[in-house]
Amino acid sequence: MSKKIEKIIKKKNKKKIVCLTAYSKNIAKILDKYCDITLVGDSLANVLYGMENTHKVSLDLMIQHSVSVKRGIKHSLFVVDMPKGSYTTPFKAKKNAILIMKKTGCDAVKIESNKRNFKVIKEIKKVGIPVMGHIGFTPQFKKKFKVEGRDQKEVKNLINEAVSIEKAGAFSIVLECLTPHTARKISEKLRIPTIGIGSSRFCDGQILVTDDILGLSGFYPKFVKKYANLNSIIEKAVKKYSKEVKKQIFPKNKNFLYGK
Ligand code: KIV
Repeated sequence: MSKKIEKIIKKKNKKKIVCLTAYSKNIAKILDKYCDITLVGDSLANVLYGMENTHKVSLDLMIQHSVSVKRGIKHSLFVVDMPKGSYTTPFKAKKNAILIMKKTGCDAVKIESNKRNFKVIKEIKKVGIPVMGHIGFTPQFKKKFKVEGRDQKEVKNLINEAVSIEKAGAFSIVLECLTPHTARKISEKLRIPTIGIGSSRFCDGQILVTDDILGLSGFYPKFVKKYANLNSIIEKAVKKYSKEVKKQIFPKNKNFLYGK
């Protein structure tokens, strides 16, 4: 097990694990100073490309963004989401995980659970690639948003799913939109750290989409806290630039590269 992965696992029950998403070098460089894990999430489909869901994201696109992100990372654990369709069989999963690792230099891959693909985790792990699991609202496999773990049967199924993912060899698991009770039960049961998104403070760490917390994406469900409003800051700057170009305030002599 790599030192970086060991460090993440050791945080369980001691320190909260801080995680955010990045799709480019400039953002990754900032996150890297404060995050334990930087994830290139396939949420880039909706957030960056305005797609309806994450289903059509290609492996090439994930790799391209990850190459950029890698250039901003020095310290944090660098995880790349495997897109839908890239891990439909254990063989395909292994082949594509190796490709992602080789092309991006990431530390681990993340796969969403469809309640049956535990073998996929095992197979990727076998070739020495660390895997992060993902249960609850898994956008690659679910059409309609729903908080999961609302009744006893659902809680039991989610616990079993999380345990199977741990047994398959995952080093960590994302819990997306689970009830606080379920997130707590799973976090207490597993030895590997749980990373929550919309799943309460009872997880070992938290992840959010960076564009959401910066007020860039326009997507602000209840579980997102907006830490800045970059949309309005960017708009103000662009508006000023536009005005200054039109009124010939910009560029000034000092902005000329040569002569007057
Ligand atoms: O795609 C993504 O950004 C994710 C995180 C939100 C967990 O899977």
